[in-house]
Amino acid sequence: MKRETVIVLDFGGQYNQLIARRVRECNVYCEIYSYRTPLEQIRAMQPKGIIFTGGPNSCYLPDAPTYSKEIFELGVPVLGICYGSQLMMHLLGGTVEKAPVREYGKIEVTVDCSSKLFTDVSEKTICWMSHNDYIAKLAPGFAASAHTDNCPYAAMENVEKNLYATQFHPEVLHTKEGQKMLSNFVFRICGCSGDWKMDSFVEQSIRSIREKVGKGKVLCALSGGVDSSVAAVLMAKAVGEQLTCVFVDHGLLRKNEGDEVEAVFGPDGPYNLHFIRVNAQQRFYDKLAGVSEPEHKRKIIGEEFIRVFEEEAKKIGTVDFLVQGTIYPDVVESGVGGESTVIKSHHNVGGLPDHVDFKEIIEPLRDLFKDEVRRAGLELGIPDYLVFRQPFPGPGLGIRIIGEITAEKVRMVQDADAIWREEIARAGWDKKVNQYFAALTNMRSVGVMGDERTYDYVIALRAVTTTDFMTAESAEIPWEVIGRATSRIVNEVRHVNRVLYDCTGKPPGTIEWE
Ligand code: XMP
Repeated sequence: MKRETVIVLDFGGQYNQLIARRVRECNVYCEIYSYRTPLEQIRAMQPKGIIFTGGPNSCYLPDAPTYSKEIFELGVPVLGICYGSQLMMHLLGGTVEKAPVREYGKIEVTVDCSSKLFTDVSEKTICWMSHNDYIAKLAPGFAASAHTDNCPYAAMENVEKNLYATQFHPEVLHTKEGQKMLSNFVFRICGCSGDWKMDSFVEQSIRSIREKVGKGKVLCALSGGVDSSVAAVLMAKAVGEQLTCVFVDHGLLRKNEGDEVEAVFGPDGPYNLHFIRVNAQQRFYDKLAGVSEPEHKRKIIGEEFIRVFEEEAKKIGTVDFLVQGTIYPDVVESGVGGESTVIKSHHNVGGLPDHVDFKEIIEPLRDLFKDEVRRAGLELGIPDYLVFRQPFPGPGLGIRIIGEITAEKVRMVQDADAIWREEIARAGWDKKVNQYFAALTNMRSVGVMGDERTYDYVIALRAVTTTDFMTAESAEIPWEVIGRATSRIVNEVRHVNRVLYDCTGKPPGTIEWE
């Protein structure tokens, strides 16, 4: 059965993933494609709707991203957002030009008519605007459906052709009734039924994995994180005895994490898996010796991972499939999906070596956003404490030790991180922040301990709140919690004499330090 799909056509906007997530929150499946995707491909996907994203360009300039206007003739409803709205007008004969007044921020929008897009939306509603250009003249066949003080066409539509456009961004949370508008678009305009549900995802995945794998042997890379745990349990339910899970302890895990993973997935745990733990710590440290460039470290860790799996696979005998816990944001952020530039190559995707000794890689969570992975995990009966575990990057502490990695530095960051996590939990902040950890900076500073001068390392503590990990705010952890953690860290962790708290949001920072 074909799944209803809405396509997000990415023109380089920063909120492309958000749009897709918001659509999926309506239980409608949504995928992101670059504006370079040929029309034929889009047509073949038979989407229920298409959404044009925002973007940083001016659509009337010669090199600006554009699309064939035949897309409006497919008979598929289109919603243009910001740049997407301007491009729609530009392509269909309207006029876009530099706005006399630039609008930025939360702006009151007045809805002018009873539009399907604005069903149940208040007449005056706060929306997020960010544009330098504006639509000066509508394309023929369009009518204005909303305005602001400075923007005569804040929303417009051609009802007959099912074309809708908003100058503002309904996908960001600052647009108070944005989710309602997107839901109106997918249900009232595109006629979706909302068939994207986690129980059916799990059921369908199990069925298609069984079909694909047949009697083949499957090897699963288990890290103990949410993604690979959910992938492993999903695979185990699908192919049972044919699955072997290999857990590589690369020596870059959090303190005691290796043993914890073994306790859950090993022979004494609740799952019926073939579990193999490979203690490859030294091997990774040797490979990483002298390497300090972040992307290089990621690549080494990613490749070494695959090599270890290949070796394990050889010991097991013929292995047909390798499972990876790649999720949708990894795919998009690696530049595979939409238009996003590669900010960091992700361990699971960008860092994959060209040559892999397996017949095929299976990525059962490749289509899921993080919150969907968690829902799938609950659906599979995985306990809450595993499902709601904070994210931990594939390259592990390798990207939380700035510069060169040594066993000694791993020990320092592990100990400091364990203290930070303990103190955060003790203060009840573990439920209020979404990710928190310690990073070891590559900086040493002078201090004094007792009567002695020290020249030791500086630890940075991080705690962020975020809903999507694409943007984040530094959490305002009470001073006393930071203070207690600081004093414990400098007292208990050898060769650390100073602690900093990272106040940077994302953007401009990233959550991890490398
Ligand atoms: P950044 O640092 O890009 O992180 O703001 C966003 C989220 O992604 C996690 N992260 C990674 N996860 N492999 C992963 O599996 C990676 O290479 C990687 N880099 C960052 C990070 O912990 C945060 O949750």
